[in-house]
Amino acid sequence: MRTLLALVAAAFSCLVPVLPAHATGLPSGLSSDLSYDFEDGTTQGWGPRGDGVSVTVTPDAARTGSGGLAVTGRTATWHGAAITAPFARGVGYTVTAYARLAAGQPASTIAMTVQRTPTGGETTYERVAAATVTDGGWVRLSGSYLFTAESTGVQLYVESSDATSQYHLDDIVVTPLGDPTREPITSDFEDGTAQDWSPRAAAVLETGTTAHTGAHALTVTGRSASWDGPALNVLGRMGKGDKYALSVWVRLGPDTAAGKLGLSIERHTGGTPSYERVVAPKDVPAGQWVQLSGAYTLAYDVDFLSVYIESDTGTFPFHLDDFTLTYVEPEPIQTGLPSLKDEVPFTMGSAFTRPDTLGVHGQLLAKHFNGVTPGNELKWDATEPREGEFTFTDGDYLVDWATEHGMTIRGHTLAWHSQTPDWVFENATKDVLLQRLERHVRTLVTRYKGRIAVWDVVNEVVDENQPDGLRRSKWYEIAGLDFIRTAFRTAHEADPAAKLFINDYNTELPRKREALYKLVKQLKDEGVPIDGVGHQLHLNIEHPPAADVEATIERFAGLGLDQQVTELDVSIYTDFVSTYDTIPPELLLQQGYRYKELFDVFRRQAARLGSVTVWGESDDVSWLRSWPITRLNAPLLFDDDLQAKPAYWGVVDPSKLDPLVRKLEAPAGVIKVDGKRDPEWDLLPDAPLARVGDVSAGFQARTATTGSPAHAATTSSLARPGTTSGLYVLAEVTDRTVNKDDRVTFTVDGRSRTLTRTSPGVRPTATGYRVEALLAGGTDVQLTVRDRTAETTWTGRITPAPAVKHTTAPHRPTPPVLDGAVDRTWTGAPEVRTATRIQGTTGATARVRALWSGPTLYVLAQVTDPTLSEQSANPWEQDSVEIFVDPGNGKTKGYTDDDGQYRVSFTGRITVGGTFDAAGVKDHIRAAAAPVPGGYVVEAAIDLPTITLGEGTLLGFDVQVNDATGAARTSAVTWNDATSRSYLDTSHWGVLRLTR
Ligand code: XIL
Repeated sequence: MRTLLALVAAAFSCLVPVLPAHATGLPSGLSSDLSYDFEDGTTQGWGPRGDGVSVTVTPDAARTGSGGLAVTGRTATWHGAAITAPFARGVGYTVTAYARLAAGQPASTIAMTVQRTPTGGETTYERVAAATVTDGGWVRLSGSYLFTAESTGVQLYVESSDATSQYHLDDIVVTPLGDPTREPITSDFEDGTAQDWSPRAAAVLETGTTAHTGAHALTVTGRSASWDGPALNVLGRMGKGDKYALSVWVRLGPDTAAGKLGLSIERHTGGTPSYERVVAPKDVPAGQWVQLSGAYTLAYDVDFLSVYIESDTGTFPFHLDDFTLTYVEPEPIQTGLPSLKDEVPFTMGSAFTRPDTLGVHGQLLAKHFNGVTPGNELKWDATEPREGEFTFTDGDYLVDWATEHGMTIRGHTLAWHSQTPDWVFENATKDVLLQRLERHVRTLVTRYKGRIAVWDVVNEVVDENQPDGLRRSKWYEIAGLDFIRTAFRTAHEADPAAKLFINDYNTELPRKREALYKLVKQLKDEGVPIDGVGHQLHLNIEHPPAADVEATIERFAGLGLDQQVTELDVSIYTDFVSTYDTIPPELLLQQGYRYKELFDVFRRQAARLGSVTVWGESDDVSWLRSWPITRLNAPLLFDDDLQAKPAYWGVVDPSKLDPLVRKLEAPAGVIKVDGKRDPEWDLLPDAPLARVGDVSAGFQARTATTGSPAHAATTSSLARPGTTSGLYVLAEVTDRTVNKDDRVTFTVDGRSRTLTRTSPGVRPTATGYRVEALLAGGTDVQLTVRDRTAETTWTGRITPAPAVKHTTAPHRPTPPVLDGAVDRTWTGAPEVRTATRIQGTTGATARVRALWSGPTLYVLAQVTDPTLSEQSANPWEQDSVEIFVDPGNGKTKGYTDDDGQYRVSFTGRITVGGTFDAAGVKDHIRAAAAPVPGGYVVEAAIDLPTITLGEGTLLGFDVQVNDATGAARTSAVTWNDATSRSYLDTSHWGVLRLTR
C-alpha cells in the first residue's frame, strides 16, 4: 500500500511543472528572479522603442497594485517598450509578463522579442513569447530564452502585430533557469520509469525492484552486443572544456556469475562518432552492487553526446541505479608560483591532448611549459587509420595551439609497434611495408615542416632480452633494421631541419642502455640521420636510482648526440598489481625528493639535455591511471586539482619540502669492522644517497645480536662471529678528490660519530672510500657525507630484521637429468628447508637444493605433501613449488625484467610471473615433477642469460611451497621471505651464492 502511494505521489510530482520561485524584486543575479511591478512609480528601466513612442507608469495600467506601464504613440509593429535585457550568455531564462490593450483597441498579437547582435554577425530578432491580447482582460505571456554566442545590444522588447496598438504591461518576471551544463543529472528510477534512459540497440530497459537504494532500479536485458545497453542523452548538459564527475551503481543480473561493466561516452563531432571510456570495464562480483565512477572532460564541439554502460564482452543482463552526473568546479591554478620553464636550464615540456588545452589545464600548460608532445594525436592510428586516409584534425589543433603559445613541439611518433592499425602489416612484403612507412613519414613530417622541431622517428625498438637487442615487432619481423633506416631517411628528406630521435623506455637500466647504445652507434656509423636519443623515463618511486639515469646520459654523451627526457613520470607503485584508495601523504613527499634527485641530475647534465618532458601536466590526466591497470596513481608534478605537489617543489625549491624520514631494515648480521667489504654486505644492495656536487654514497646497516658466536654463525654463515650488540653500518662513499674535510657522520638516536678518511674502519676504494663501524644501537639514523663543498644525507628509521638467509649452489660440469628423480648429481649440494610460514600453521614443506651448469640454475625441491590437488583454476592455489630468481640480486621492490617467479605444480605444469607480462623470463624454465610416497619432487632448470654465472655470483633466491586442499590454498611456506609479497617484490628473497 505504502509503495503504491509513494509511486502515485512520485508520478504526480513528475507531471506538475516546477513553479517559478516567488518574484523578489531584487536586482538581477544569476540565481534570483527579477521582477518589474512598477509599484515605485518608475519605469524600472523600461523605455520607448521607436520614434514618438512613450512609456509611462500609471494606475490605469496596473494589473496588481497601483502601477503598470502604458505604451502609446506607436506607429510601427516593432515599436513598443524595451529594456536592456538582463540576460547573461549561456544562461536560460523564463520570462513571463501580463498584457492587455488600452480601452477601445482592436485585438492584436503582442509579442516579447529579443534583439541582439552576435560578434561579427547580423542583428537577430528572437521571439520569447506571444499571445492574442484584447482590451477585455489581462493575458499572460510566457516563454523561455537562451543565447550562447558572444553578442552586443541585447534588448528585450514588447511589440504588436498592429502598428498602432496601445497596450498595458505589468508584472514582468525574468527567472534564470540555471545553466544546463551546471545542473546535475540524477537517475534513481524511483518513479518507476526509465527516466530518459534508452537502449543503444535491442536491449530492453525496465524498472525492477532489485535496487541499490530506494525501491527501484533499472533492469537491462536482451542485449545484442557488449556495447548494447542503457544510454542517456546528455547533449547540452556538458560544456566544452568542463569536467564532470559521473557515477552509477551496477549489479549483475540473476544467473550471471561474473562480468565486467564500464561507463563510456559516445560523442559525435562533425558527424563522426567517437567512443571514450570514463570507467574501463571492471569486475562486478555476482550479487554485489559496484560503483563505476570517473571523471570526464568534454573537449569537443558535439552534435551528439550520450553516456552508456557496456560490458567488456558478453551480453549478460544487469541492473543499474543511482546515476549522477555533476559538474566539477575547477580550482583555479596557482598563478603566484614560479613557472617551471623559468626554473630549469632546458626546455620544460609536457605531453598533452586536446582536453588539456582547455580551461584550467590549458592555463597550467601555458604557465609552466614551453614544450609539448601530443600524447596520441600524431600516432599512426590517429593520423592514418586506413591506408592513404590521413586525418589531422586533432594533430593540427594541437600543433596550432602550441604554436600560438610559443611552445616547442615534439612529434610523437612515426614508427611504433603499438597504436598502429593492422592494415599496415596486412599482406605486407618488406617492400610494401617500407612503402607504406615512407608515405606515412613523408606525409606527417612534410605537413608539420618547420613547426615540429623534434620527431620521435622510431619508438621502443629495443628489446634487451633478444640476442641482437631488437624488439621482435611486426616492423622488425618483416623489414629488419631497414624500417628504422627508412623512417629516418624519409623524415630527414621531408624536413632536413627537424631533429630526429630514437625514443625508448628503461634506457636507465644497464642492459637496455647497452642494447640501445649498440644500436644507435651502429645507425650513426652507417650514416643514418639520427640526431638524438629520447629517454622516456617512466620511473617509479623507488627504482631505479637517479644515479642510473645519470649513468645513461653520460654513456650516450660519448656518441655526441642530443638527448632529451621525453616522457618522465614517477609512479607511486613498484609493481603492476597494488592499488591505493587514497595515497599516503608520505609517499607524495618521497616522490618530491625523488623528483629533486632526478632534476639534480638533469641540471647537472643540462649541456647534454635539450629538454625534459613530463608525460602529462597533472595527475588527473596521467596515462598511469589506466596502465597497466586501472588504479589511482599520482606520478606528476601537479595534483588532480592542478595544485602543486611536493614533486613540483622537488623540482623548483626542495627547501620547501618537509623533511623525509626514509626506512631501512637492518637484518641481523656480523661484520668485521676493518674497511674491507664483508660478503655479508653483498646480500643486500646499498641504499643510495644521491649525488650532490661530486659526492654520493651507498649505505647499509646490520643489527649486531647479543648471544653466542655459534648463534651468529648459524644465522649468517658468511659473516664472522661476534657478540657485541649495536648497529653495524657501512658507507661506500664516491668522492674522487681526497680532502681533509671529507667525512662521514652517523647520528643514531642523537649520538653522533664522525669518521674521516684516516679513521679506523675506513679504507680507500677506486672511487672514494669505504666506512665500516659498529655503533651503539638505535632506530633514528642520520648519515651525512661531506666533501669540501657539498654534502648528501640520509635520514630515516632503521628496523631490525631477521638475518638474510643464504646458501650455496655448487657447479656441475654435467647437469642433472630433469625427470623428477634425485640422481647423483645432487649429492653434495647443500640442502635448505622451507620453514617461513606465510599462510596456515602446518602444511607442505620442501627440502631444496640448487646447483648450476653453464648458464643454467638447477633447483631440486623434495616436497612433503601427502594429499595433492590441482582443482583450483588459480595455479598458486594448486599444490606447487615456486622458485624465485633475481639474477643481479638487485633486491628491488617490484620485479625488473629478468626477475622471475617460476611455478611448477606437482604434475609438472609450469606458470611464470615477473614484470607485467613476464616477457623477459617466461621461456626460461624447463621442469619435471614426479610423485613420491608422501609427496612429490620438482626438478627445474632455469636459464639465466642476462648474467654470466661463475664462482661467487649472487642470485636473489627463494622457494615457496603452496599447499592446496581441494580448490583452496590452505598453507604456504617460504625459505626466507616472510612478507607474503614474493610474487610482487624481490627485496625480501634470500640469497644463493654460486660456488665451483
Ligand atoms: C600512451 C598515452 O599517454 C595513452 O593515452 C595511450 O592510451 C597509450 O600511450 N610510451 C610512449 C607513449 O611512447 O606513446 C605512451 O603514451 C606511453 C608509453
